[in-house]
Amino acid sequence: MTDDANQMWGGRFAAGPDAIMEAINASISFDQRMARQDIDGSRAHAAMLAATGILTDSDANAIREGLLTVLSEIETGAFQFKTALEDIHMNVEARLKELIGDPAGRLHTGRSRNDQVATDFRLWVRGQCDAAQSAVKSLQTALLGQAEAGADWVMPGFTHLQTAQPVTWGHHMMAYVEMLGRDAARFADARARMNESPLGAAALAGTSFPIDRDMTAKALGFDRPMANSLDAVADRDFALEFLSAASICAMHLSRLAEELVIWSSAQFRFVTMSDRFSTGSSIMPQKKNPDAAELTRAKIGRILGATVGLFTVMKGLPMTYSKDMQEDKEQVFDAADNLMLAMAAMDGMVRDMSANPDALRAAASSGFSTATDLADWLVREAGLPFRDAHHVTGTLVAMAEKDGKDLPDLSLDQMKSAHPAITEAVYDVLGVDNSVRSRTSYGGTAPDQVRVQIARWKEKLA
Ligand code: ARG
Repeated sequence: MTDDANQMWGGRFAAGPDAIMEAINASISFDQRMARQDIDGSRAHAAMLAATGILTDSDANAIREGLLTVLSEIETGAFQFKTALEDIHMNVEARLKELIGDPAGRLHTGRSRNDQVATDFRLWVRGQCDAAQSAVKSLQTALLGQAEAGADWVMPGFTHLQTAQPVTWGHHMMAYVEMLGRDAARFADARARMNESPLGAAALAGTSFPIDRDMTAKALGFDRPMANSLDAVADRDFALEFLSAASICAMHLSRLAEELVIWSSAQFRFVTMSDRFSTGSSIMPQKKNPDAAELTRAKIGRILGATVGLFTVMKGLPMTYSKDMQEDKEQVFDAADNLMLAMAAMDGMVRDMSANPDALRAAASSGFSTATDLADWLVREAGLPFRDAHHVTGTLVAMAEKDGKDLPDLSLDQMKSAHPAITEAVYDVLGVDNSVRSRTSYGGTAPDQVRVQIARWKEKLA
């Protein structure tokens, strides 16, 4: 073994790696983020090796104590990460050797970096599933606050971004509460499925040492050990599930962000964003830009990019571990960081923004938003088939549009000219308040329905 051959496997090597080899091979610049998980995993492994009599208690204790010292060195920034030692696993082990000497060399008994990295990464991603769920819940709470304040504020509901029917602000906010509820459930599902321990699968085939995989699984908070050692070291579907859930969640955030961008414009004025989440322009003094919303809208780009990236890395890999899989981490780290940032920004924006009920109402009252109510009235009160009612209403909308009016401004004579059965009573359904109040079907926009949903979610999130 030459001096520069790797101290972990230099036995069969006559020379150290080329500098480019070292550069392409090393992951320590990013996988040092899994230091805590690596040390937790190693401590659990050492305790199990002692409990099964594979290691002496004194060696195992020296290892467990030494690992705590390594962790504190890493956490205080005193630790020197070395690229020559490739990754977090070998950096930690090498430092342990410096600290405690020979017993360090026994830690890797019955284990491989393949099950080690699979374990560390699972623990890391599991933590992100928890963090994402809390962030989602906080954002839902912020939206509930908005919904409660404006449970009966009338606003236009849109399809095709064209005025469709009046809805309430509360109903619109609650739509996002529902979407985010499914996001939280996706993170929870992914977490439950990934919560099995790869540790003890060793390189790929298991080990001849009498290890106790249930013990390490339990110590690390896993439900059970994974049942197939090849699967344990080879799959990264847990990371893909996290990324998929993150992509869907980021897509939802992007849609809300887009609405905030539109709504805060001078043309809409539905909301005023707080100064804390806006920026100014260096040239146009009047500008207040919704940058946080725009950046939140954009985050789906990198998060979905990471998802596609990891799918592409994993597809076509033969069983079991291949070094390709080292490319799993940076994508997941970046996606997780940016999802959390986007959620925090959205949380702040939603809490701080103030809706403008007058502008909402004015917009709801224009654009013939109650045309469906008029058609429904013709069905209900005049017995017309819906298709005929639709046609009559269309005629009236065209008439109003020609006169530059809205539907409630048409005279009764004009109304009757479209259909003789129309009476004065029709004007009751043309007002936006009556319109939303009439939508009492389950899940509809009637303020009473919205309040039922708000109460349900408040209880659920409490
Ligand atoms: N740094 C490696 C990774 O992230 C650890 C596993 C190395 N295993 C191996 N057989 N070379 O995937």
